[in-house]
Amino acid sequence: MTYCVLVCLLFFCGVLPKALTAVIQTQQTVLAAVGEDAEFSCQLSETKDILQVTWQKISHDVETNVATYNKQFGQRVNDGFTDKVGFKHTGLQNCSIVIRNVTEQDEGCYHCLFNTYPEGSFIGRTCLQVYELHEPVVDVSESNSTEEWVVSCSATGRPAPTVTLSVSQQDLSFSQYNTVSVSNTNATFTVTTTAVLSGSCKHSTQVGCAARVLSAPHREVMVMIPEVQQVYAAATADYNDSTSAIVIATIAGLTVFCFSSCSHCTPA
Ligand SMILES: *[C@@H]1O[C@H](CO)[C@@H](O)[C@H](O)[C@H]1NC(C)=O
Ligand SMILES: *[C@@H]1O[C@H](CO)[C@@H](O)[C@H](O)[C@H]1NC(C)=O
Ligand SMILES: *[C@@H]1O[C@H](CO)[C@@H](O)[C@H](O)[C@H]1NC(C)=O
Ligand SMILES: *[C@@H]1O[C@H](CO)[C@@H](O)[C@H](O)[C@H]1NC(C)=O
Ligand SMILES: *[C@@H]1O[C@H](CO)[C@@H](O)[C@H](O)[C@H]1NC(C)=O
Repeated sequence: MTYCVLVCLLFFCGVLPKALTAVIQTQQTVLAAVGEDAEFSCQLSETKDILQVTWQKISHDVETNVATYNKQFGQRVNDGFTDKVGFKHTGLQNCSIVIRNVTEQDEGCYHCLFNTYPEGSFIGRTCLQVYELHEPVVDVSESNSTEEWVVSCSATGRPAPTVTLSVSQQDLSFSQYNTVSVSNTNATFTVTTTAVLSGSCKHSTQVGCAARVLSAPHREVMVMIPEVQQVYAAATADYNDSTSAIVIATIAGLTVFCFSSCSHCTPA
């Protein structure tokens, strides 16, 4: 505690000079999925005489000018970035750019420089992190023993996604987890988690699979495992195909489940 206070005092009052970055409001990290647009914005919170705002990309410690917004000449996107970068909000105090359709190549850090007179440049820094996450694919197959299923879920992403299985019904549980990660040629990973679902399955059951990378929104797929064996066989046909197939299978499962419950309750 005391140590921390000491360090803090050293940082803010002593060792560090009054940093020029302190007055710039910007995001430390921007997270964007491949193919999305990423927006960076910098705001100089103190009013200064700003001549120009310059945006730079930093790669391997080399700064490349990407775009400028000048008091006199307005906005300009430099050669090599015209398809990639655009201004969102132009202002000398508050400036933002958009990186369109981000790819792995756009990853890295970017500087915004407020060139002021007479103090010089105030620099803000934002880093772009690009991720990729595809919808998980769930496969359910019957195990040897009657009350067990083998559930397998695969998700592809960059960095390697975490894959989590869940089950809606309390008296069912997963065991014998096994996770395999395979690296693809394009720097993504395909992670497959397989587990055995067992317990007394008296009703149809919903199995979920969620895939996550970094702090990005997760992607989740739900699959229905109906109670009756022959129904299950019919509904399983397209589980591995696509989401729409899963949805259709789910509806089929639900419908049959509903019919079977109805036939129990309603006298014919
Ligand atoms: C600065 O720009 C950002 C993004 O363009 C916006 O959200 C914010 O309200 C602006 N601030 C001011 C003071 O104009
Ligand atoms: C996005 O970038 C990818 C890869 O560079 C390209 O194949 C695709 O056509 C681009 N999409 C758009 C809408 O510009
Ligand atoms: C199925 O049974 C065979 C023989 O009893 C066993 O070798 C195999 O591991 C079982 N498979 C599963 C998925 O439990
Ligand atoms: C990367 O490879 C995986 C697996 O081959 C594929 O699913 C994914 O679409 C690829 N991503 C890109 C951006 O090409
Ligand atoms: C789905 O699984 C079946 C067998 O389990 C296989 O024949 C079929 O090719 C798979 N389809 C896809 C799209 O992977």
